[in-house]
Amino acid sequence: MREYDIVVIGAGPGGYETALEAAGTYGMKTALIEKEALGGTCLNHGCIPTKTLLHSADLYREIRECSRFGLTVGEVSFDMEKIQDRKEEVLNTLRSGIAMQMKQKKVTVIEGTGRLVDGHTVEAVRPDGSKITLDTEFVLIATGSRASLPPIPGADLPGVMTSDGLLESRTVPEHLLIIGGGVIGMEFASVYSSLGVPVTVLEALPRIIANLDKELSQSLKLLMKKRGVTICTGAMVKELRQEEGRGIVCVYTEKEEEKSVSADQVLICTGRRPCTEGLFSDGCIPEMEKGRVLVNAGQQTSIPSVYAIGDVTGGLMLAHAASAMGKNALAHMNGKPNVCDLSVIPSCIYTSPEIASVGLDDAGAKEKGLDCASRKIVMSANGKTVLSAGERGFIKVVYEKETGRIRGAQMMCERASDLIGEFAQAVTAGATLKQMYGVIRPHPTFCEAITEACRPELS
Ligand code: NAI
Repeated sequence: MREYDIVVIGAGPGGYETALEAAGTYGMKTALIEKEALGGTCLNHGCIPTKTLLHSADLYREIRECSRFGLTVGEVSFDMEKIQDRKEEVLNTLRSGIAMQMKQKKVTVIEGTGRLVDGHTVEAVRPDGSKITLDTEFVLIATGSRASLPPIPGADLPGVMTSDGLLESRTVPEHLLIIGGGVIGMEFASVYSSLGVPVTVLEALPRIIANLDKELSQSLKLLMKKRGVTICTGAMVKELRQEEGRGIVCVYTEKEEEKSVSADQVLICTGRRPCTEGLFSDGCIPEMEKGRVLVNAGQQTSIPSVYAIGDVTGGLMLAHAASAMGKNALAHMNGKPNVCDLSVIPSCIYTSPEIASVGLDDAGAKEKGLDCASRKIVMSANGKTVLSAGERGFIKVVYEKETGRIRGAQMMCERASDLIGEFAQAVTAGATLKQMYGVIRPHPTFCEAITEACRPELS
């Protein structure tokens, strides 16, 4: 009999939710090791703080634009110190909530840095340097990822930061330069442009959010342009340097022409990489590839008692993907089949309006050799969108021509991050356009646009 049934290393949404489920649903004796605050990147340096800042920034923009709703307000301003204080309050509330749930489910929480000694032994080094050794049946690695900095000279200059730094910043930039037009880059472009800060985005690829449907990229680029954001694509950053009177100067090439842009704050968000430093002792290293831990369909590594979930396994670095992998890992440890279908993971970008995508887009369906078609409706006929003066948006559905089976959906509209759930369910369940059309949705709502998007005679 071992001391623990499972020891989880890393308390992000993957790790802490799996620890709760292990103890609560499976009755496993569980320990959770975390070196920083509970909640991981998502709660402390990612999704939650970003969305809290976005909420304040969007409100500010909406209040400034409220005359179109017949409202008159006095002078509107914002205080970054207070926005940051509120963000801290939100984070503290959520952290305490997690700590309370750990207590309720009797999960042993250990503050320290975990290291795998062998397949059944984990060592934790506490902040005071003391060590404890845990004997366990299973180990779950959920150590997440961190920002990966490209080798750009000057990336270490003061004022140049990753999203961790910008999320903590209490000063408002006069001009924000964002290197990387992916998810993080566009969410920060949305925050700061809503606050009235001039923003420039440099993206190396021919389009922003390049891993999503082309039409989403184009629509977001147009919207950001309307909000005053300058977006340069095909821009290869060469160096950053401090120049008297100009601040931080970024030299880049665009269509082989050398250009430069200056800013007082620079955000580098060019991707993230798995965190495995110091995690494995010699002789106990699972199979890895390009820094990520390799797992099978049940999240098991090449060491049978050791499982891994979330960002540390590479792929889609999303909180909900990590939690889903955790559910599958627990099922596998307990001899049960997978709970979640990891081939259908929705992803969202919290710009305003939001962007969401699930399953295949047109290009993905073509790549898979599927005989699919897509249909698109624009939101301009949706009552709720018009009455709330929502931005021009759309919903696109990808379906099999012969059967009408839905294979994916992409959307850019108000509440897209909520609406995409219906399509995640449809793709997972193999539902057809006809079945989705037959669902009665309330009126007036954003979601009734889904009925329109699935109307059979459109095909
Ligand atoms: P990303 O992979 O989404 O985008 C990075 C972008 O930087 C790419 O478009 C890439 O072409 C570009 N790039 C790389 N090197 C460059 C260079 N030297 N110059 C200019 N551009 C360059 O990575 P990002 O935005 O850092 O996000 C990291 C992870 O966090 C992603 O996996 C993302 O899914 C996740 N995340 C998810 C969120 C959400 O679901 N709402 C929010 C924030 C992050």
